[in-house]
Amino acid sequence: MTQPALSQDVSPDFAAEVRAGLTHTPQKELPSKYLYDEVGSALFEVITVLPEYGVTRAEERLLTKHAADIVAQLPHDVTVAELGSGSGRKTRRILEALCKKRPTSYCPIEISRTALQLCRRELGDIERISIVGYERDYLAGLAEVSKKRASGERLLVLFLGSTIGNFSRLAATRFLRAIRSMLAPGDALLLGTDLEKPVPVLVAAYDDAIGVTASFNLNLLARINRELGGDFPLDAFQHVARFNPDARSIEMHLRARRPVTAHIRAAQLTVTLEEGETIWTESSHKYRAEEVPAIADDAGFACSHQWVEREWGFAESLLVAQ
Ligand code: AVI
Repeated sequence: MTQPALSQDVSPDFAAEVRAGLTHTPQKELPSKYLYDEVGSALFEVITVLPEYGVTRAEERLLTKHAADIVAQLPHDVTVAELGSGSGRKTRRILEALCKKRPTSYCPIEISRTALQLCRRELGDIERISIVGYERDYLAGLAEVSKKRASGERLLVLFLGSTIGNFSRLAATRFLRAIRSMLAPGDALLLGTDLEKPVPVLVAAYDDAIGVTASFNLNLLARINRELGGDFPLDAFQHVARFNPDARSIEMHLRARRPVTAHIRAAQLTVTLEEGETIWTESSHKYRAEEVPAIADDAGFACSHQWVEREWGFAESLLVAQ
């Protein structure tokens, strides 16, 4: 049987990273950023409203309760740059509080055009806001926003949702340093971190009863099949969420239920998995509120304020560039 032609716009980066990850030994892995195609992003939006996944609601409660206080800590004239705006829903409270005081520019930075459009639709009705979206990766977008600002204007960078948790601890510190290198003293970063909690609560949050997170995870193999000409048999894989006590992270894996051989044409790769072998697809590191100031310090920031939500366990920290 002849195989369907590969799409013209295969991403060479995606193919190369899939090849590198699936030939990695001893643990096969795939970069978690590829979880977020159109299907994955829609599934993630559903995850944020699942009863088991308290992260987004906890942050919304925090921002609703403390928006005025957070804004009161900021310099007078701030432009807001958000890394990974998503739909923009959680940012509304901060922007409303800022715009009540003065007209505010908001620059969402997102690699997904669809997410930028959603964000504009979600937040465009706020009075006295001007929205300029940047379809870039985080650091390239931030460099551009920082370069374009008027003299005397301060930047407030928002990095919400505990996306920092999806970096290894070392990569998180490096990323904060890279952000700091684009800021001037007195600029600020509002950082959301999900806090440590009992393991069964964490496992349920990443392995929900109706299987949305399982679909979110499996979609990564489905995406490889769609975009890279792969033939992974999806029914041969099971979603697994497990806590890694050394890294203090919850890991998502895809475990082969039986021996699997799959081909990925665009990556020129044949991959084999033994029964029980896993592909590691994401880590979500959990923090203690008390460790954030030291991490901030290491990256050239001072943690000036922290707001903690105790019901679920989430912290928002205001870090000021030194
Ligand atoms: C985007 N990020 C903060 C989510 C998290 O909690 O690590 C991604 C996610 N993965 C599974 N559920 C949610």
